[in-house]
Amino acid sequence: MTDPLADAPFEAASVLAARAPGFKPKMAIILGSGLSGFAAEITNGQTIDYADLPGFPMPSVEGHVGKLHLGYVGGLPVACLQGRKHYYEGRGLGAMTPAIRALKLAGVETLLVTNATGSLRPDVLPGRVVLINDHINLLPGTPLVGPNDARFGPRFFSMANAYDAELGAQLSNLAVGLNIDLATGVYLATPGPNFETAAEIRMMARLGADLVGMSSVPEVIVARHCAMKVAALSVVTNLAEGLTQEELSHEHTLKHASVGAVDLTRLIKAFAQSLAG
Ligand code: HPA
Repeated sequence: MTDPLADAPFEAASVLAARAPGFKPKMAIILGSGLSGFAAEITNGQTIDYADLPGFPMPSVEGHVGKLHLGYVGGLPVACLQGRKHYYEGRGLGAMTPAIRALKLAGVETLLVTNATGSLRPDVLPGRVVLINDHINLLPGTPLVGPNDARFGPRFFSMANAYDAELGAQLSNLAVGLNIDLATGVYLATPGPNFETAAEIRMMARLGADLVGMSSVPEVIVARHCAMKVAALSVVTNLAEGLTQEELSHEHTLKHASVGAVDLTRLIKAFAQSLAG
């Protein structure tokens, strides 16, 4: 069976080219739960509803909007995805695939993923920004199962250096200069929508996870397939279940994401500026 959305990235890229003639975003930024306010930092921008972009998903979760912003951050042309689709929303693992591929076609070289996470490390507390240096995929599959679309990448591909070490080092250096206490860690993706049990968190810690969340891994896999570089930043919104007495909720996530969003915003602006060179 052919994928009905196989050509959607090309159609969406045509819409982008028509709406913003000559504009070539170098970096795409996916804004996670409670982090959508970053879109206000984009200058000389314009906004396109996902509804006008073939293959772009309509998010259904509070804190996720469904708009693509084109414009400049720190002098760098960027495309900012305000809203992502999660596996738990029921549209499978490939809901973000056409959007990522459309941005690749539009000229994007680097994908900066952001998300909100629970921390499995008692020393990494809510409000802290964490550089993701690797992931563990505990989602029930990957977004690229099915026929390979060779227009974007090969059937089999490496996930070594999936989180680009050079970009990571650049972010770490910038954080030092900005007096941001950036931690580094491994992100574990879980299907959600329920938070984890305490026993699951103990298992995840043994597997080597520092952070747990319900997103990002599908996008990173699709980006690596089409040879985009990836950098990823988490904002810790809570200590994971069993490490805290606090009751976890989406409201809790949004509240604490706004604390970390301040440092995250400063760091992304500096990062964009350094890439603009
Ligand atoms: N678990 C899973 N996803 C999350 C969490 C968590 O504790 N916090 C924010 N997103």
